[in-house]
Amino acid sequence: MIQRLSNSLRKPGVHWCWVGAVTDNQVTIKAKIREDIINQYIQIKYNTNSRFFETQDSLNSLRGIQKTSLDGQIATFNLNNLAEDKKYYYVIIAGGRRYPENHGDYLTFKTVKIHKKYNFAIGCSSCAGGHRLDPLLDDGVSNKKIFDVIRKYDTPPLALFIHMGDLHYRNDIVNEETNIDDYRTNYEEVMTQDKQRNLYQNLPLAYIWDDHDYGPNNSDTTHALKYIASKAYREQVPHYYLEEPVDEASKTGAIYQSFVIGRVRFIMTDNRFYKDKLPEENSSIGNSILGTRQKKWFFEQLRQGKVNQNANKERLTIWVNSIPWIAGGEGFETKDAWDRYPVERREIANFIKDNEIDKLLMISGDAHMLAVDDGEEGSANSYAENGGGSFPIIHAASLDSNPSVKGGPYNGAKYIINPNEEDVERGAIKGRKQWGVLHFTDDGNKIEVKVELKKKNKTKIEQVFEF
Ligand SMILES: [Fe+2]
Repeated sequence: MIQRLSNSLRKPGVHWCWVGAVTDNQVTIKAKIREDIINQYIQIKYNTNSRFFETQDSLNSLRGIQKTSLDGQIATFNLNNLAEDKKYYYVIIAGGRRYPENHGDYLTFKTVKIHKKYNFAIGCSSCAGGHRLDPLLDDGVSNKKIFDVIRKYDTPPLALFIHMGDLHYRNDIVNEETNIDDYRTNYEEVMTQDKQRNLYQNLPLAYIWDDHDYGPNNSDTTHALKYIASKAYREQVPHYYLEEPVDEASKTGAIYQSFVIGRVRFIMTDNRFYKDKLPEENSSIGNSILGTRQKKWFFEQLRQGKVNQNANKERLTIWVNSIPWIAGGEGFETKDAWDRYPVERREIANFIKDNEIDKLLMISGDAHMLAVDDGEEGSANSYAENGGGSFPIIHAASLDSNPSVKGGPYNGAKYIINPNEEDVERGAIKGRKQWGVLHFTDDGNKIEVKVELKKKNKTKIEQVFEF
């Protein structure tokens, strides 16, 4: 008699996983484990040689490591003592089942170099889902080919993908979150889109939220579920070290983080957790986006970058700032970006000017457009007292959301490749399937950053900066 495999044996042990917090010798991998086997043996096997993943015997010969922690259905693996700048192959084994399922299949990640001369490229973008704005046609997540385009990009293969927020728009379209399970479901919905999953399980991710994945549209520090959003982020997302614990009593839980690749420092600010509420949408200003605690950390990061630049350990700082910085002149006002917080914007610009933070580049999402502002003559970006405090700014979005333009004007219209480009407004190209590639070429002294802002594989805006 042929025994039928029970249903549970047929189901894979792992639903999905993603890779993050990549350094020269570590990565973090988080995997969602099937609920009925979370108490069984869960391990990851990894090696720089793909040969180990071809057969059951070769896989058995490879020693695995156990999960570092288990939080609900999410297993966290912290892989240490890795070799720098090396490609690794991995599979996860849970409940006796391999993920991915078939012999010969595996997932990959690559480590980087830190505080050394290093040539590398990163991808960046934001805003995926919700382009139909109709609950019958749209579930607020995206599974478009753009995620395959990013994964397959190979000139050169990317070291990292920075997701600058709005991982989904489920709160706009399905319903607003009311508890932590809603947040978990949102991550689940994103990760069950195979094109997104394939990207995040094979390319290290650095992800910071914006309004839609933190709470509802234009959400701020008054968002009632902010501690729950933060708890869910920590549970579900592989992230770099977080300075703040989630603690309602001390009102902490923001998710700002920083890391270094090559001689480039990346600072990702959380522009939602501490953001003051604007009393009225169209006619008011707020005090702070970053909040006191984060701002202190941010200035310390800028200072540390400068110290390391003086010691030649670093050469450039990148501020990952989700929302538009250049905004506010007549006709260029926004509903909730930096023009609504002019006092803090001036304070930051003054700090940059006074401390001679002259090797700084900003990358932003939020607005569903591509744009460059070179921070030079004619730039609106000079917000310090008596002018100055400027730097180049890159906008790279949207992955898959309705075309829009915010803030500006952006003085980089001159870098648009096709003079007859459609959908250009204020120097920006509105659209979806859009993203950016930053190529860093380090000669040991200067770093050249070639910025390519793309629609799918086609470069629409290109400019080279030297720091
Ligand atoms: Fe967005």
